[in-house]
Amino acid sequence: MTAPLTFRGSAAASAPHLAQGSPAARPAPVGAHVAIKGLSHSYRRHDGKVLDGIDLEIRAGEIVALLGRSGCGKSTLLHMLSGLSHPSAGEVVINGKTVREPSPRWVMMFQAPSLFPWMTVAQNAALGLRFTRRTKEIATRIPEILDLVDLGAFADRNAQDLSGGQQQRVALARSLAPRPELLLLDEPFSALDAFTRRNLQKDVRDIARDLGLTLILVTHDVAEAVRMSDRVIVLEANPGRVSCDTPITLDEAERDGGSDAFQGEHARLMKLYARAADDAPRS
Ligand SMILES: Nc1ncnc2c1ncn2[C@@H]1O[C@H](COP(=O)(O)OP(=O)(O)O)[C@@H](O)[C@H]1O
Ligand SMILES: [Mg+2]
Repeated sequence: MTAPLTFRGSAAASAPHLAQGSPAARPAPVGAHVAIKGLSHSYRRHDGKVLDGIDLEIRAGEIVALLGRSGCGKSTLLHMLSGLSHPSAGEVVINGKTVREPSPRWVMMFQAPSLFPWMTVAQNAALGLRFTRRTKEIATRIPEILDLVDLGAFADRNAQDLSGGQQQRVALARSLAPRPELLLLDEPFSALDAFTRRNLQKDVRDIARDLGLTLILVTHDVAEAVRMSDRVIVLEANPGRVSCDTPITLDEAERDGGSDAFQGEHARLMKLYARAADDAPRS
C-alpha cells in the first residue's frame, strides 16, 4: 500500500530537528493496528517459556516502548511482531491479519546499522525499494527520505565515511523508504554516544509522529522509554510477561529531559522497572 505521507518542506528539512507539530496539525495515522493475542514462546520443546501469555493491543500511530531487563524476551517478541519467527502459541495480528512472514509494511531496525560500506548513502537507503522491486520509486523517494533523516547533503558519500549516528540515520532512511506502517526498533541507539543518541531519539519520535507511523521500541533504558514513547509496557523475566502498561503524558518540550515533569516520570518508571526486575520490594 502506498500511504500518503506528509513530508516537510525544504525549510523544515534543512533544520536539524523536525518542527513540533501541534496535535491538531498531526496527520491521521497511517500506522498499523497491532494485536498480540495469547502469545507464548519456548525455543525448545522441553525448555521453559521465554514469553508467557502476552496480550496487548497497540493503536495505529501509537509509539510504544517495551521496557525490560536483558534476557526478558524483548527481542523475541519483536521478532514475532516482524514475522521473522513464530510463537509457540497465540498470534500477532496486524491490521486484522495474522503475521506469518516479514513484509516491507513492517520493518525492523537493529543496534547495528548493517550497511554496505562501499555503497553510497543513497544506494544503501534504496536497498529496501530495490529488494521489493520498486526501483521506479527510487529517483523521487530517496532524496525526500534522506532529507527527512537530515542526510540530504550526504547522498553521494560512502557509508563507511559516516559517523555511527549518521549510519544509523541511513538505516532509518532504508527502513522508511518503502513507506512501512509499523517500525520496530531493537535498541537501535545503544551503541551511540549520549548526545547522538538523544538527537536520534527525538528525531525518530518526531518522524514517526509526522508520518503517523506505529512505532514499537525495545529498550532497557528507562530514560529512552520516557523520552520517546506515548506508552510503556514493562516486561518481567522468566518467563516474559507484562508487568505493567502505563502512559507517558509528557508534552514534546518536556521530553528533552531537564524538566521536573520528566524527572517525575523517570522516577515513576524506574520503580516500575525495578519492581518487574525483582530488584525492589513489591510495596
Ligand atoms: N535463538 C534462540 N535459541 C534459544 N534461546 C534463545 C534464542 N534467542 C534468545 N534465547 C533466549 O531467550 C531469552 C530471551 O532472549 P531475548 O529475547 O534476546 O531477550 P532480550 O531481548 O530481552 O534481552 C534469553 O534467555 C535468551 O537466552
Ligand atoms: Mg534483545
